[in-house]
Amino acid sequence: MLIDSHAHTSDTKFDEDRQTVIDRAFNNGLKYIIEVGCEPPFWDKVAELSKQEKIYSMFGLHPQDADKFNDELLTKLKILLNDKKCVAVGEIGLDYHFEGYSKDLQKEIFAKQINLALEINKPICVHCRDAYDDMVEIFKTFKQLPKGVIHCFSGSFEQAKVVLNMGFLIGIDGPCTYPKSSKLTNVIENVPLDKLLVETDCPYLAPQKYRGTRNEPSYVIEVAKKIAEIKHLAFDEVCNVITKNTIDLYNL
Ligand code: NI
Repeated sequence: MLIDSHAHTSDTKFDEDRQTVIDRAFNNGLKYIIEVGCEPPFWDKVAELSKQEKIYSMFGLHPQDADKFNDELLTKLKILLNDKKCVAVGEIGLDYHFEGYSKDLQKEIFAKQINLALEINKPICVHCRDAYDDMVEIFKTFKQLPKGVIHCFSGSFEQAKVVLNMGFLIGIDGPCTYPKSSKLTNVIENVPLDKLLVETDCPYLAPQKYRGTRNEPSYVIEVAKKIAEIKHLAFDEVCNVITKNTIDLYNL
């Protein structure tokens, strides 16, 4: 039994068959799906999806939308975050991959949302792309940090150790199944199983078996299989521990 701890089935790529995809995940043994609403136009859709029994939600403002932050948006975000099915603030963070986004503004909005998580006592789900050092610097400015996960982790084991020491978990996605994934393999080998979460980040990043096609929550099984293979553990044990990690982090 697994949980897809990070899915975007609200994405338009699921408009034709969203419920079929969700049902398939649960028919394949998934326990829960955590839906991520990080773009304001999709917030309502995510809230609607989380009315389904086995779907939870999280809400936040993605770093690439940092310039959209305003008081009105914050008011709406706070209402969504207080929903009983909402388990975290996310995904929030820094993304320096594409040009044209203000780094200073991203940092400011990231810190604001960390404070929001502390206020409401919920964990954070962090998106960090090509911005590892700045992320750590922001964490260091906090006397106390919320619990959380560095989602879709793509750093080295050395970098993983730093955030593990700050109390964060590491989110593992489809790329660990790709042939050229030695850095991620090393992370999985060395990070204790009780510090890992699995996620799809669907519709993107389909595991190798489905690479090039739309990703979906049921494919999270491929990620857990790969972790079992890398760590030389039984698949069931990997599922049990990672599911417990997810339940504990998000208070499910
Ligand atoms: Ni995501």
